[in-house]
Amino acid sequence: MTIDRQTLRKFLLQEEEKHGLGQDMMLLIEDIATSCRIIAHQIRNGPFLDILGAAETENIQGETQKQLDVIANDIFLSHCSNCARVAALVSEEIDNVIWLKDAPKKGDYLVYFDPLDGSSNLNVNLSVGSIFSVVELDEDITDLSNDVVLFKGARQICAGYALYGPSTSLILSTGQGVNGFTHKIGSGEFLLTFPDMRLPQETSEFAINASRFGSWDAPIRRYIEECIAGENGVRGRSFNMRWTASMVAEVHRILMRGGVFLYPKDADNAHMGGKLRLLYEANPMGFIIEQAGGRASTGTARILDVQPTGHHQRISVILGSKSEVELIDSYHAEAGA
Ligand code: AHG
Ligand code: MN
Ligand code: MN
Repeated sequence: MTIDRQTLRKFLLQEEEKHGLGQDMMLLIEDIATSCRIIAHQIRNGPFLDILGAAETENIQGETQKQLDVIANDIFLSHCSNCARVAALVSEEIDNVIWLKDAPKKGDYLVYFDPLDGSSNLNVNLSVGSIFSVVELDEDITDLSNDVVLFKGARQICAGYALYGPSTSLILSTGQGVNGFTHKIGSGEFLLTFPDMRLPQETSEFAINASRFGSWDAPIRRYIEECIAGENGVRGRSFNMRWTASMVAEVHRILMRGGVFLYPKDADNAHMGGKLRLLYEANPMGFIIEQAGGRASTGTARILDVQPTGHHQRISVILGSKSEVELIDSYHAEAGA
């Protein structure tokens, strides 16, 4: 039995009617959806095309790029430049901000993206994703420097991700809650399969790279030790742990069934500020999680309130079910005090 579901186009037209989404934003979202559909196709055909391995290049962060990092980046670049309102693109894979306009105007868009997240999973055929976010300029720009794109996450007007799993999901927020679409193979369409996603608040599941235990700060260590202590510990119940090394897959699981994701700043990565990038990983995911009723924190501050200092800046990320993130924040506050 097939259920008749709303297409992404129909959904966007309704958002336009209800909230004045705007034609340019509709077009941009459709261009992003197209990028994700093409990337999904490339990934699925990866073993035949021999593109799952490393490229012979490094990105600005010193990471060896996968061929698909480069391919996915090119797909995003070419499609996101279509919309006439897009003034600049900021990608994990490109050193500098790409300015598409000489004189960006108030109302123009900045698009931030991680074209392929979790790419170490590619050659073991596990889930990867793409992350994106849009900010609108609030004034005309005269100086086209990298620093012009350093806006707080609270300024995002649209964010989301695609998850290339057993099916391809597109999760989207334009600030009116979170909606989830699934690519219907063969139709070329994304259909609304998860309307008005809300993050379950009660959780007994956490996600962290536990191999870094020895480098964690005391508040993180305390939280995880208390989870692991189970029924006999202060939490009085058992917790489950998951780690897929793909933030998109992790966030999606948490959105669907609750939980908390941690990639904190620790003794090993503190010199870089953490591991995950603020503008195209932490901010879009923080926006989605908040829009679904969760919380996203560095441990000491709301992620969306952090003033960026660099367009590839890294940051501590703790996000998911509200009560758990609040608890971790309170452990940081106690340790600070
Ligand atoms: P990317 O592939 O875009 O560089 O991001 C990978 C990130 C994120 O997806 C994941 O949560 C984390 O790196 C995994 O880190 P570990 O290798 O420490 O598990
Ligand atoms: Mn990433
Ligand atoms: Mn990436």
